[in-house]
Amino acid sequence: MVGGTIDLAGIYTAYEGSDRPVLKNVSTSIASGEFVVVGGPNGAGKTTFLESINGMLPITHGQARVCGLDVTSHGYAVRRRVGYVIQNFAFDPLAPFTVRHVVMMGRYGLLGYGKQPGEDDRQAVDEAIHLLGIEDLEERPIGKLSGGQQQKVLIAQNLAKNPDILLLDEPFSNLDLCTRDFISEVLTGIADAGCTVVMVSHAFDALPTREIRILVMNDGHLSLDTCCPADEVEERVRTHSGGPHA
Ligand SMILES: Nc1ncnc2c1ncn2[C@@H]1O[C@H](COP(=O)(O)OP(=O)(O)OP(=O)(O)O)[C@@H](O)[C@H]1O
Ligand SMILES: [Mg+2]
Repeated sequence: MVGGTIDLAGIYTAYEGSDRPVLKNVSTSIASGEFVVVGGPNGAGKTTFLESINGMLPITHGQARVCGLDVTSHGYAVRRRVGYVIQNFAFDPLAPFTVRHVVMMGRYGLLGYGKQPGEDDRQAVDEAIHLLGIEDLEERPIGKLSGGQQQKVLIAQNLAKNPDILLLDEPFSNLDLCTRDFISEVLTGIADAGCTVVMVSHAFDALPTREIRILVMNDGHLSLDTCCPADEVEERVRTHSGGPHA
């Protein structure tokens, strides 16, 4: 992990078949190794924001550079360097893969077409499994695990990739309180090692005790872009989220 930068200059993102942009004139710059929390109400555009960074959605106006690469013309190269833990993902109960297989899938994009995993790949998988503390699950079929266990496996899969940037979409949603604390420590360690972490979350009780960069989205705009201590994040997000509870 060497850490990656994110530079968005006035980007607009629209879903295919729609002429209404979801993200509207979003600009921000995130430095290597920052720990960023993205908050805001349902439907505000948080997932769209992550998928725009990852080059998964067309940017209709403006420019997005990630790890110094233009996302529109270098989407594949960007995704090799960016891990993405998606929202509310659940494996098919009959999926024919063990946990180890699923974590190894994090290496496939780096391997090149038709290449078999080597010692480096196995080592990266071992390290990710160890970091998430899921050694006891390694040979279990992925589809038979609980939602929280699957969530840990998905995080391990993305870490096995040794990403420069890790995007996470509500990674705490399936996790009990102790596991949230544990994952928060893991993510802090990753950011301390230089990986940029951008996490969408509604759970602010398990944030790292370091300065947090907060981005709040509202109706496709950034309504707040600032830094604050972890214990102020919830209040800041609440007061900038609009709606009747603001
Ligand atoms: N595949 C899609 N096609 C068309 N519109 C979409 C698609 N996915 C999301 N949208 C729309 O884009 C807007 C932003 O959605 P997004 O999923 O980014 O919100 P969010 O902030 O992540 O919400 P939540 O907190 O519920 O996950 C919403 O109005 C949504 O209806
Ligand atoms: Mg979302």
